[in-house]
Formats: sequence, C-alpha cells, structure tokens
Amino acid sequence: MIEIKNISKTFQQRTGGTFTAIDNVSLTIQKGEFVSLLGPSGCGKSTLLNLVAGLEHAEQGKITVNGKDCSTPGPDRVVVFQEHALFPWLTVLDNVAFGLKQKGIGKKEREEMAREQIKSVHLSRFADRYPHELSGGMKQRAAIARALAMDPEILLMDEPFAALDEQTRLILHKELEEIWMRTKKTILFITHNIREAVILSDRVLVMSTRPGTIKKEFAVQAERPRDASDPLLHHTETNIMEVLADELEKVVKEEMGDEYSLKKNTLSDRSSNSMGSGI
Ligand SMILES: Nc1ncnc2c1ncn2[C@@H]1O[C@H](COP(=O)(O)OP(=O)(O)OP(=O)(O)O)[C@@H](O)[C@H]1O
Ligand SMILES: [Mg+2]
Repeated sequence: MIEIKNISKTFQQRTGGTFTAIDNVSLTIQKGEFVSLLGPSGCGKSTLLNLVAGLEHAEQGKITVNGKDCSTPGPDRVVVFQEHALFPWLTVLDNVAFGLKQKGIGKKEREEMAREQIKSVHLSRFADRYPHELSGGMKQRAAIARALAMDPEILLMDEPFAALDEQTRLILHKELEEIWMRTKKTILFITHNIREAVILSDRVLVMSTRPGTIKKEFAVQAERPRDASDPLLHHTETNIMEVLADELEKVVKEEMGDEYSLKKNTLSDRSSNSMGSGI
C-alpha cells in the first residue's frame, strides 16, 4: 500500500523565488490497485510520481510503502518512462537481465528469468535483437519486461505509451491489462489520454492545475478484461472530460487571456473520438 500524506513540493526558480508544484496532496493506493493520474501539462503529475519513486524529495509530508519511508529509490518501486531508456548496446535479453545481474543472480538463472518476462510481453522472437532493430511498441514492451524482471511490488509508469501510434497503444493496453491481472502489481500510471486512463484503471485521479492538487477521483467499476465498447467506460470518460475541461480552460486563460475559450471552441466534442480523447 502506498500512503501519500500531506505532500507539498516546491522548486527554486532560476529567476529567484519558489514555485509550488504540488500542494498538500494526500492519497492512498491499495496493494494491487491500478490508479491513473490525469491533468494539464505542468500540474505536477511527474513530480508526484518521482516523489513516490524516491527520485525527488518533498519538503513537507511523507510517503510510505507498506509503512516504510520511500524518500530514496528502492527495489520495491520501478519506473517505466515514456522514452524506453533501454541500453542500446545490449540485446533485449541482456537489457531485461541487466538488473538481475546487478542483483548478483547467476547467468543461467537470470537468462531464464529474463526469457520468462520477455515471453510475457510476447517478444520471445526478438530476444536477441538490439533496441534500434525494434519498433517503438516493441521497445516499450521490452522496457516493461525489464521492470517486471525486478519483480517490484509497484510499477510507476510516466506516460509509457505517449510516443506510440494509436494501434500499437491499443495492443499495449491489452498487454498491460493482462500483466496486471496476472501479477496484481500496484500501478501508478500517468497519461494525457482519458480513454487510456479509463480503460486501464480502477481509479482515475484528476489533478488541478498549478499548484497541483487532486481535484476529483473517479472509480471505474467495469468488468475486466475491459471491453472498449462498454458504455460505462464511455460515460466515465465523458464525466472526466468535463472536470478536465475546467482545468484546461484555466490554463488557456492564464496563457492566452480572456478572449479565447478552449471549452467553447474545441473541447465539447472531443470525447466522442473513438481513439480516445487526449489532453
Ligand atoms: N527540477 C525542476 N525545477 C524547477 N521546476 C520544476 C522542476 N521539475 C518540475 N518543475 C515544475 O513543476 C511543475 C510540475 O512539473 P511536472 O513535470 O510534474 O508536470 P507534469 O504534470 O508531469 O507535466 P507534463 O504533463 O507536461 O509531463 C512544472 O511547472 C514544472 O515546470
Ligand atoms: Mg510529466
């Protein structure tokens, strides 16, 4: 269980002064839960995820995993970023086995473990390829296999599918759903894609813009495996869009002044896009 209690995070600005990125956020994520964070660019999603990862330090508040402080990185939490960050000089197999080698696991055993994870993301035929020989989707699947090989309790995913085309993204959704159902990892997932958040998550948290707080949360109770045509998903997506639209409107007003309204101009029909509405 991840417990985030009264977390605030400020950054020093180059121009002097401080900037509050996250303001007094409290949140509990149950073991095995899949939670997504949605919110306008710059609202503090990555900052919050990095705090849980132990990559950033909060001046105020506390984050614990099963009661243990997580202000430094630990093997119980692995991050998957938008850019796959595979080592280009290693094959898929060696990339996935890399962390296991660091752990001191022998060659035969770590290769067996790595092959098992590679199989779980359906990449067995490409185990001996180098990253530059893979498609974007394959690279991201390799990155997920590498994270899973460490067998962390928690996967922290920061827009892992944002750079992929829509068809590949849909395949990766199915794979991640299957992995989550099989392993019951706790997943904190950041996305700008409302449909992606709804289709994957138990709970979707919408963050408000500057300073970042949790504005509203939506439970998604649809059966798994999820059916993209489930009206319940569509309904939740529409509700989330409404809450987000208010936040986006604030961002637009801040940046462009009162003469432009995003809500009136573009947002009203976005959620009917079958590929998912993005923000
Ligand atoms: N190291 C840093 N120093 C100063 N400001 C920072 C730093 N990291 C983040 N910020 C600021 O904190 C705010 C939150 O950033 P963060 O990256 O968490 O946003 P985000 O919600 O992940 O945005 P996006 O959707 O664009 O990825 C932003 O205004 C950003 O400029
Ligand atoms: Mg971010």
